[in-house]
Amino acid sequence: MSVLNGKKILLGISGGIAAYKTASLVRLFIKAGAHVQVIMTPASKDFVTPLTLSTLSKNPVHSSFYNQDDENEKWNNHVELALWADFMVIAPATANTLSKMTHGTCDNLLIAAYLSAKCPVYFAPAMDLDMYKHPSTVASFQALSSFGNMMIPAETGELASGLSGEGRMAEPENIIAFIEADLEGKLPLKGKKILITAGPTYEAIDPVRFIGNYSSGKMGFDIAQVAADLGASVTLVTGPTHLKINHSLIQVVPVVAAEQMYHACHEFYNDVDVAIAAAAVADYKPKYKADQKIKKASDDFTIELEKTKDILASFGAHKKQQFLIGFALETENEIENAKLKIQKKNLDLIVLNSLQDDGAGFGTPTNKITFIDKNFVIEPMPLKSKEAVATDIVAKVLEHFDS
Ligand code: CTP
Repeated sequence: MSVLNGKKILLGISGGIAAYKTASLVRLFIKAGAHVQVIMTPASKDFVTPLTLSTLSKNPVHSSFYNQDDENEKWNNHVELALWADFMVIAPATANTLSKMTHGTCDNLLIAAYLSAKCPVYFAPAMDLDMYKHPSTVASFQALSSFGNMMIPAETGELASGLSGEGRMAEPENIIAFIEADLEGKLPLKGKKILITAGPTYEAIDPVRFIGNYSSGKMGFDIAQVAADLGASVTLVTGPTHLKINHSLIQVVPVVAAEQMYHACHEFYNDVDVAIAAAAVADYKPKYKADQKIKKASDDFTIELEKTKDILASFGAHKKQQFLIGFALETENEIENAKLKIQKKNLDLIVLNSLQDDGAGFGTPTNKITFIDKNFVIEPMPLKSKEAVATDIVAKVLEHFDS
């Protein structure tokens, strides 16, 4: 999924021939899952029509301070547009528009929105090669960069004048790639490695039967999604689940039994910055697995069980740089038991689920948790969706890196 997914983009189009390419640019933004609003300078409408852009952006296009067509909504609020945006892109940015941005020459809606914008601003210059090199243009680039605006450099090639050189607006695909790379580079968990366990484990009794539990894996998958969206490289070691996840930063390692999960995790554990054990690992497994399907014979049937390896405890025992988060599902003496678990497993934080709370636990879309940290600071949270709980858990990871 693109980092642009869900982003609100205000696209400002100024009057150069490259404006015709903004139709593709809007389409690519929308395809990446972004919401787009367009502001056009009056001159840009000679190169691309507002109808094309409103159709592609699925929003009305703004170009003047007054709305001629709508009596009820006469005033186009540039401040509102600028505040709505997560970031603004000015493409093409002509020499004229760049100069107005630099000097605050507020004679059209685009510049008014630009001056009101508190969000990041990208601009993609487009002009003839000599204009691009002119000291006045270079001074605009320098001034805008000193304002914190980000330039998407023009490309070299054939220009509308028939000349060839530097000045062509970056191709829409390259504008998208530039912004994505910039946003990804600024994500707060960029470069951090996180190991997450999820789902149940199945402990084989014979070739067709197992001991398992009702865990869906949703909690661990949601944490993986939130962490990856914030730039972390996630290894998700999961027991059997119907859940699917598709993210370039998430590596899914499917396992079946606790023993397999233990070994899979330890292939990655030494190298990670954070480990989160959200799996409902079986505590016991059959001591012997029958090679053939067990036939029913006597009225009673006993399976001898033995303990599985405690994966989280092994993380705690070998902890170095890792920030370690475990889960506890308790039915009585919850806080005391959770505190004991923090000590026993050498955790930094425990996420306590209480089965006494309605809406918490297995098979529900919601969860009610209490955080307890290694200093025994207790923080009860309200009932939330599992996605929102995942966000809260990842917020604890961010807090750890900020501290
Ligand atoms: N866990 C694990 N490996 C196991 C058992 C549990 O990694 N073999 C992890 C779980 O993923 C969870 C935490 O340990 O993060 C707590 O598991 P829980 O079953 O609640 O507690 P236990 O340590 O098994 O203790 P008890 O059953 O006595 O409550």
